[in-house]
Amino acid sequence: MGAFVIRGGKPLFGTVAVSSSKNAILPIISACLLSGEECLIKQIPGLDDVSGMCELISNLGADVKVNGRARQISVRTPHLTGHTADYEVVSRLRASFLVMGPLLARAGKAKVALPGGCPIGSRPVDLHLKGFEAMGAQIQSGHGYIEAFCPDGKLKGTTIYLDFPSVGATENLMTAAVLAEGRTVIENAASEPEIVDLAAFLNKMGAKVSGAGTDTIVIDGVDKVHGTEHTIMPDRIEAGTLMTAAALTGGDITLTNVVPEHLKPVTAKLRESGMEVIEQGSELRVRGMARPVALDIKTHPFPGFPTDMQAQMAAYLCFAEGTSVIVETIFENRFMHVNELKRMGAQIRLDGRTAIIEGIDCLQGAQVRATDLRAGAALVIAGLAARGTTEVLDIHHIDRGYEFIENKLQRLGADIQRQ
Ligand code: UD1
Repeated sequence: MGAFVIRGGKPLFGTVAVSSSKNAILPIISACLLSGEECLIKQIPGLDDVSGMCELISNLGADVKVNGRARQISVRTPHLTGHTADYEVVSRLRASFLVMGPLLARAGKAKVALPGGCPIGSRPVDLHLKGFEAMGAQIQSGHGYIEAFCPDGKLKGTTIYLDFPSVGATENLMTAAVLAEGRTVIENAASEPEIVDLAAFLNKMGAKVSGAGTDTIVIDGVDKVHGTEHTIMPDRIEAGTLMTAAALTGGDITLTNVVPEHLKPVTAKLRESGMEVIEQGSELRVRGMARPVALDIKTHPFPGFPTDMQAQMAAYLCFAEGTSVIVETIFENRFMHVNELKRMGAQIRLDGRTAIIEGIDCLQGAQVRATDLRAGAALVIAGLAARGTTEVLDIHHIDRGYEFIENKLQRLGADIQRQ
């Protein structure tokens, strides 16, 4: 399944451009199903999850043309030819549940396999379904599938209060509401930057979405949306991962194609631990000063500290001076990296959703396994700073969300090889 072999101890130096955001592009590809006209998506990242989402919408009738060299995808769906996302694709790509909103909006029906278990937690979809029901959809589940249909052929706008500001539920309900009758208001909505990017894309298609980026999103339904062009926002988690790696290895890197505003929680924590972070327009410079100082971190929805950076920060804090405490409040089982970091000598104790990390001078290289995407990124960071050689196995998890991470790290001077 592929491995990274990393010889640790080399500080990262130089400049690298951050790729476009995985979590922004997935709902946008899905939203292309809302229109029969061509949507051109620019600056696409070359990721397994992007190929998976393209394959899924092709199965539903979309004509998808990927131009890897120009880094563009063109999607045209004159007619939907199916409305089912089967288990094989949903189990591979959890974001496939995001086709439910566009399918319900355009075809009035959708059938999507239940996502099932996931290494980082159970990840239910009850909030998505409650929202669809409030908009008049009837929901049935059985034989591993959830089926939704609109008895009147069209969803109806209403006010939906989300019990938790779920990113996926907010995205699914936003896209469903675009072609609904009347006004939909999503309260306690997620306010992540990826939601703002999706709203921008929908508005370019002719949708009427306002309030994205706040906790109340208002969507006035329209009869039809048209084709458009859109450039995907930079990936704030890839940027945060590279920032952490540079700081930990005592390097000095400049990232281009970033939105420093999106990275405030990561920047704040790196600075608090003694590192220098300089914001320069759409660039960020990170200088690793000395051994990091221990931190307390609690994950929260945006603008809080992102759960998608928790594992990378855990790796970073293994090397810190003092005792750090990390509380994971978003996912119930997101500490799979801990046992692997312990194989490298890390001193970590787990107590429910809390990790207590006694920092040590240096981890030792070891053979470790990526159990999920961000856990894999954490092991790469640990390997870059560890003494000796680290072999990270199962890197297909990392390829889901990082575009040839080894090329970027090599350009910054790291000794990392794919095997
Ligand atoms: C998205 C991101 C993921 C990130 C997460 C939180 C994508 C493709 N993935 O995932 O990288 O870690 O946001 O920032 O964008 N929940 C429910 N019921 C629901 C929906 C969610 O209880 O119907 C719970 C989940 O179990 C979890 C929490 O809400 O505990 C957050 O989930 P959510 O924000 O929906 O995450 P995703 O959209 O799956």
